[in-house]
Amino acid sequence: MLVGIDALSMYTPGQYLALEDMAAVHNVDAAKYLVGIGQHKMSVPASDEDVVTMAAEAAQPIVTDDIRSRLSTVIFATESSVDQSKSSGLFLKNLLDIPSTARFIEMKQACYSATAGIQLACDLVRQRPDELVLVLASDIARYEQGGTAECTQGAGAIAILIASKPRILALDPETGVFSQDVMDFWRPNHRRTALVDGKLSIDAYETTIANALSDYVRKNSVPLSTLARYCFHLPYTKMASKALNAMKNSFPEECSQVAIDHVEEGLHYGREIGNTYTASLYISLLSMLERTTEDLSGKRIGLFSYGSGSVGEFFTGIVQPGYLGHLPRERHFALLSKRRRLDYTTYAKWFYSPEANADTALPCMTRSQFRLEGVYGGRRTYGVNPIAQPAEAQEERVCVG
Ligand code: HMG
Repeated sequence: MLVGIDALSMYTPGQYLALEDMAAVHNVDAAKYLVGIGQHKMSVPASDEDVVTMAAEAAQPIVTDDIRSRLSTVIFATESSVDQSKSSGLFLKNLLDIPSTARFIEMKQACYSATAGIQLACDLVRQRPDELVLVLASDIARYEQGGTAECTQGAGAIAILIASKPRILALDPETGVFSQDVMDFWRPNHRRTALVDGKLSIDAYETTIANALSDYVRKNSVPLSTLARYCFHLPYTKMASKALNAMKNSFPEECSQVAIDHVEEGLHYGREIGNTYTASLYISLLSMLERTTEDLSGKRIGLFSYGSGSVGEFFTGIVQPGYLGHLPRERHFALLSKRRRLDYTTYAKWFYSPEANADTALPCMTRSQFRLEGVYGGRRTYGVNPIAQPAEAQEERVCVG
């Protein structure tokens, strides 16, 4: 029985910081960020957006009445959770009118947990093929202001529907895994920004992809050379070339030249959005499927998921005939092209403003459909935005102050 990705939809906030503006403030050559890191823009959430509103925006186009009636489980993957106890998914249950017969859980292992969620979802659907599982991955990548990691921030979410007879990507059951206990990147409970040992994190990523690939090759008869594309977790797009080098060093003969030649297709969206932690790999998959000019129907592709700390998994899937007809490409293009450009001062005010934890009513800042209205007695209240505008109707403009 084929099981895998039946629908994919992404969201990123309607504001961005151009990295040349950050370079000017940091007094750094802009080429370091644009070429050396490989990032052009970074999405910035409004103060009334968080992982819940972003996930609701991503999921809304795919949660139709037919889907609702078959949804058994909502798995929310994040490392920017809004509560230490309650699953972020429950906060969006009413926004999306998800039936009470669905179960909700949250998963965490840095950027990797959406992949764990997808593996669990596939196994649930293999047991009961009529059921659907919604995997939501939503994150805000936040580091210390002024540090070398500030240029690798970002925000976004993806909604992934797992079903039998999937319309986009049928996932192969055998995967390759590598885990180790390493302090490359972490965020203690009292901190809003992550701590990172940048160079160690790159080494850990490279070691993990080489070992996960070895585990995949050991367990699978599918030759790596037959894969049509590779997609990677992208903390920043330069990481893709480092990942490819690590793969080629470990498997110099077996790596697919076609996949190497086309790696750029998976980088477009990430370069415009920045790191989205749990969502990053799947936004890269979407970028690849929506930006390639080739029909990938029937082709097998390889995906590498990495989460610091660390766990990595290499897995594969076969692109399904007609997949393009099920991807909301125009909506994604509009989301990216109609964002407001923030100057550095405005970005810093929005991005680093204190978290709303005590009693706070939040002003309407986002133009998207859902918003965090406020926090009252520690209870978060979400609702529909009275000044929402569809992305297609928005103008790109510069926003100062
Ligand atoms: P840095 O030390 O400032 O950067 O921080 P650098 O000096 O290494 O320069 C970066 C690149 O720019 C280098 O290229 C330079 O040569 C080049 P490379 O050697 O890497 O190919 N460069 C230039 N290029 C053109 N023109 C110039 C120029 N100057 C320099 N003028 C670092 C970089 C990534 C370490 C930092 O931003 C950081 O710590 N970021 C956060 C950590 C991170 O993203 N790690 C990636 C792997 S870990 C991961 O993916 C997990 C994660 O997503 C978290 C999770 O799992 O939850 C982060």
